[in-house]
Amino acid sequence: MSHWNFNTQAIHSEQYPDKKTGAISQPIIPAVAYSFEDADTAVAVVSGEKEGSYYGRYGNPTTRTLEKKVAALEGAEDALGVSSGMAAISIALMANLRAGDHVVVTKDVYGGTHKFLCNIASRYDMQYDFVDCTNLDSIENAIRQETRAIYIETPSNPSLTLIEIEAVAEITKRYNIVLIVDNTFMTPYLQKPLELGADIVVHSATKYLNGHGDVIAGIICGKKAVIDYMRKNIMGDLGQNLNAWESFLILRGIKTLGVRLDRHCSNAQQVAEFLDTHPLVDHVYYPGLKSHPQHHLAKQQMKRMGGIVSFEVKGGVQAGKDFIRALKIAMISFSLGDPETLVQHPASMTHSSIPENELDNFGIAKGLIRLSVGLEDVEDIISDLEQALKVISITVKN
Ligand SMILES: Cc1ncc(COP(=O)(O)O)c(C=O)c1O
Repeated sequence: MSHWNFNTQAIHSEQYPDKKTGAISQPIIPAVAYSFEDADTAVAVVSGEKEGSYYGRYGNPTTRTLEKKVAALEGAEDALGVSSGMAAISIALMANLRAGDHVVVTKDVYGGTHKFLCNIASRYDMQYDFVDCTNLDSIENAIRQETRAIYIETPSNPSLTLIEIEAVAEITKRYNIVLIVDNTFMTPYLQKPLELGADIVVHSATKYLNGHGDVIAGIICGKKAVIDYMRKNIMGDLGQNLNAWESFLILRGIKTLGVRLDRHCSNAQQVAEFLDTHPLVDHVYYPGLKSHPQHHLAKQQMKRMGGIVSFEVKGGVQAGKDFIRALKIAMISFSLGDPETLVQHPASMTHSSIPENELDNFGIAKGLIRLSVGLEDVEDIISDLEQALKVISITVKN
């Protein structure tokens, strides 16, 4: 129910004890096929006139509960559970772009989205421009007659730059185009893009929504007609559906979403404050620090500041590599949003194909570290960072 607060909704919305057994936890229904009383009922379910499932590639009852739950949390008419964050992103783009159409995309976009546009969308003549979406004039200058959508992520990965969702939504409304927001880093607990004027929200549910590092999944939220179109004409036909077991795990994870994120956020704030005063750290990027250039905007559009902290260690690429290797609790990993603290060094990992002297052009400092602050006791996370900084103090002095 919409009058409930977030944690009550996360636990109770759209979930009811099983009528037959009284089971409170969500039943996992792995069925692919469903039987009908007669042909007319079958056709009514396929057309959407009657609620129900008809074939596993187009939806599943366990996944349907998840979809309704996330729609309630995001304040959306409906939602679609799909097989990965990349499935959610590609479906949202394909639903809005035909050959010859154009999308304005934030230049700090997630690498997989960048790759999808350059390698796949371009083969079908979907056009795109990567634009600095913190600058509203740059967005308007990039809009052309063929532009159908603006696609943003805020805060960005890994530099944690913010984009003002309400201001970008004002532009999309004026040009009668669609605003798509990747809300993976924030989740509906910390940021509600639809309330700020966005049309479609996409998630990698692999991250905080599931929150336990054991599921790959995605969710799209938006108007019912748009979600129906995506389900019937893209997800189902391309086979990007989410299975019942993984939907169950995400439903279970969502029950503690608010509790987990409160802890991620308070741990991240303390870690950022510690790093900010350390002599071997050049710069800390965290919207919760007063020194963050968009701290004021962060307080306006985000409930709290999230669990990701990025920072630059002194000493360049080698110091960055030595630092992550010296960590004992934080694990070197490409993912984020898990209970474990996870760390990555873009210059030697995600951006290692870029020559060292060109890293600056991509906004990646040589010693930049991205930390997904976990749920451990914060004193232990900070001691771990402290001892790893001590290890690199030798490299930095030499
Ligand atoms: C912001 C963001 N969006 C989307 C994705 C893609 O999600 P998935 O790995 O579930 O396909 C990621 C993955 O890291 C991400 O960080």
